[in-house]
Amino acid sequence: MLLVGQGAREHAIAKALKKSDIELFAFMKAKNPGIAQLSAEIKIAKLDDYDALFAFIKDVKPDIAVIGPENPLADGIVDFLLEKGVSVIGPTRLAAKIESSKSFTRDLLTKYGIPGQPDYKFFAPDTIMVEISEYVAKLGKVAVKRDGLAGGKGVKLMGEHLQDVEEVLDFCQEIFAKGEAAVLEELLEGEEFSLQCFVSGEDMFPTPIVQDHKRAYDGDKGPNTGGMGSYSAEDHLLPFISAEIVEEAKDIIKQTAKAIKQETGRHYCGILYGGFMLTPNGLKLLEYNARFGDPEAMNVLPLLETPLVDIFKAMIKNELSKIDIKFTNKATVCKYLVPEGYPVSPKKEEPIEVNDKEIINEGADLFYSSVSEIEPGKIITTTSRAIAIVGIAENLAKAEEIAERATSFVKGPLFHRKDVGTKELIQRRIDHLKELKVL
Ligand code: AMP
Ligand code: GLY
Repeated sequence: MLLVGQGAREHAIAKALKKSDIELFAFMKAKNPGIAQLSAEIKIAKLDDYDALFAFIKDVKPDIAVIGPENPLADGIVDFLLEKGVSVIGPTRLAAKIESSKSFTRDLLTKYGIPGQPDYKFFAPDTIMVEISEYVAKLGKVAVKRDGLAGGKGVKLMGEHLQDVEEVLDFCQEIFAKGEAAVLEELLEGEEFSLQCFVSGEDMFPTPIVQDHKRAYDGDKGPNTGGMGSYSAEDHLLPFISAEIVEEAKDIIKQTAKAIKQETGRHYCGILYGGFMLTPNGLKLLEYNARFGDPEAMNVLPLLETPLVDIFKAMIKNELSKIDIKFTNKATVCKYLVPEGYPVSPKKEEPIEVNDKEIINEGADLFYSSVSEIEPGKIITTTSRAIAIVGIAENLAKAEEIAERATSFVKGPLFHRKDVGTKELIQRRIDHLKELKVL
């Protein structure tokens, strides 16, 4: 089995795969010590170095490849591997547009009449400003996004990052100057959750829903990040998201997989992750990702009772509906330790010490992210998230306690959000939906 990618999400995939007796080969741009330890062989190269990738697959001859991150998917790594005869978990370049192109996605959902769309409009780089200000006047408040991949950091919201129409127009011009289109959407208010599904053609199987935390600091303050932590509950719902809402979200994902097949002429084989928001006007789809979430993969994969390798094999044979997929009924809390100054001016190349034995002793698990093992046992930070700590227990309070205690066994210039998964934070989410009269 070949794994592409080097983050904590890929470390979580590697751990889940290695629960079965398989040989793992990892293609990474930096040496993730956790993945390296689980692998029979690794290759360090840029993920778009297809010569290095080809040489590696000729050498290790993987039967199946799984692609962790979004950039190689958008780049067409799956098309390349399929052409070389390797079966792949991950969509082709065309299907990965469901994540890499917001215009592709919004237009697809509109064309196939799939529910959950906010009011939206795309503006090409040559748009005259008056057209944009008219649209803002029509909607009141808007969210402004670039059309392409932005690591979750490409969105600006009116009332938060953009104070008035002038600032909206300035941001649009900034986007246009790069030759990209901008999308304006009605500004939605509500609570978000992530639903990651295994998808193979028209078959899909959901994993437990998760809530991520985009903001850098406690109390949802500070700049947006790649995600500072996430939690999931023992009943696989959230205290403010019912089974009915999850059914609606599943149905949207199912219809989308079908529409992708019709549009691209090919079965979608991979993970389809919907970022949803429950609002006073019902369930809305904010974005799709064509892969597991990071951190959300660290919530759901450790709960899998069914071997991940069996699920992947069934997806490739188009037999996903034939296997019985089970998740343990436990709660999970994932806290990301990130370099001081992240995401604005992160301290990089700082040594950190990880006492993995103590972390495991606390009943937690750890997943290495953007760190580099420069010599055996010597780990330094990069500019991004460093280590994810996950607590798993019979309820959220216990899982949070375990995760929080375990964070103290990583030493170095790092910080984390102490409020992820706490009772207070979850109560705020509930109160928010009550204020909006959703609950
Ligand atoms: P996206 O890049 O589309 O996934 O958006 C990233 C984040 O921006 C989401 O997780 C939301 O927190 C926020 N966001 C995106 N679209 C909207 C919207 N229309 N209204 C309010 N918030 C949004
Ligand atoms: N947690 C957000 C993402 O993976 O894009």
